[in-house]
Amino acid sequence: MGIFDGRRIVLGVTGGIAAYKAVEVCRRLVDAGAHVSPILTKGAERFIGKATFDALASEKVQTSLWDEDNPIPHTNLGQNADLILVCPATARLLSDYRIGRSADLLTATLLATRAPVIICPAMHTEMWEQPSVQENIRELAGRGVEIVGPEKGRLAGGDDGTGRLSDPGSIVAAVEKVLNSGVGAQVQDFFGLQVLVTAGGTKEPICPVRYIGNRSSGKQGHAIALEAAARGAEVTCVTTQPDNIFHHPQIKVVAVETANEMAEAVFSESPKSDFIVMAAAVADFTPAERHKEKIKKSKEGLEIHLVPTVDILASLGATRNDEQILVGFAAETSDLEKNAKNKLESKGIDLIVANDISAANVGFDYDTNAAVLFDHMGKKTELPLADKREIAQAVLDAALKLKVDKHEESGGN
Ligand SMILES: Cc1cc2nc3c(=O)[nH]c(=O)nc-3n(C[C@H](O)[C@H](O)[C@H](O)COP(=O)(O)O)c2cc1C
Repeated sequence: MGIFDGRRIVLGVTGGIAAYKAVEVCRRLVDAGAHVSPILTKGAERFIGKATFDALASEKVQTSLWDEDNPIPHTNLGQNADLILVCPATARLLSDYRIGRSADLLTATLLATRAPVIICPAMHTEMWEQPSVQENIRELAGRGVEIVGPEKGRLAGGDDGTGRLSDPGSIVAAVEKVLNSGVGAQVQDFFGLQVLVTAGGTKEPICPVRYIGNRSSGKQGHAIALEAAARGAEVTCVTTQPDNIFHHPQIKVVAVETANEMAEAVFSESPKSDFIVMAAAVADFTPAERHKEKIKKSKEGLEIHLVPTVDILASLGATRNDEQILVGFAAETSDLEKNAKNKLESKGIDLIVANDISAANVGFDYDTNAAVLFDHMGKKTELPLADKREIAQAVLDAALKLKVDKHEESGGN
């Protein structure tokens, strides 16, 4: 028995110097029980022979859309795959896949699938660091494509730097993670649902130059928006960090700066939302007065009078309809459970995501997070330190479960 028994994997190989390493990846996948269907691009054939993959994979290599034995190869391959792995992926492949240009069998197959996709880029450092390549990568990652590598190390031509294909062991581990955990598997369980997410820290202006802000990066909120979109939702993300969110066709981005602007955007979008996830760090106070001119340096101190902002979460808790699921966040430095439960009850919300931001690698600006979920039914779920996308997945799982339970309680079918 292998860990990939019965799983169908399309292995796309493109024309980079690391193409020879795809042979080892192919062998490991087959040894672990996978049915591997290899596709080689014309570029790949310049680096590695078809005969090698013919001998090692589960079926013969395919290279063309126009194969007489298989009239529509891309849809057969794409629809039957449990996963598509592109290893190595050239800069050309990233670009064509991003823009949806099906110029060859591999890109056509990538477009003709709903299976999760793993891309393992490999190229020289200069190519990898090109803004165009980086944009393509960010965009693809934002659509739920799992990107593995590249790593730093020796490159062709005696060079050293970032761009080296990840080692076969890491690539096979990523395949296992995606196939077994469903991360990036794009289960469409939010299809037809509207999700409103807020993200980032608000900025409260003191004068045209200065503001009162906080350290929220927006990463957790953006991860939730992306995860919801990848699972089929129509998402509106109200964010103070619009430049840092991946473009996704199902995410409408609403850029705001202040707590008041955020409140306005949220109140206008919330009536049509099935889920409202308030991940933003909204200022509790704002300067009573905004100076029109820059405040000049002076020897005397400066007093700024602050007034409370609108409590968006509490207003939503009081006005939302019974079918909506309202999710709040609590970033705490002490008494996590007590503070989170207080907020849950006092603001009338369904689910609270509490994190202890004093812990290592948790909260603001990290790519990882750890949290405890408390729901209005009294359930507590601990989420250990994980990538923010995985935390997003768990938050949406819990929110969806609450929605289903509510619907059943109200006698829906
Ligand atoms: C010797 C050599 C090595 C190359 N290595 C890479 C590489 O590692 N990564 C890459 O993106 N392109 C590399 N290229 C460029 C690609 O082969 C070229 O863009 C080709 O059109 C890619 O075709 P494909 O994506 O259809 O396989 C290399 C080209 C040559 C001649």
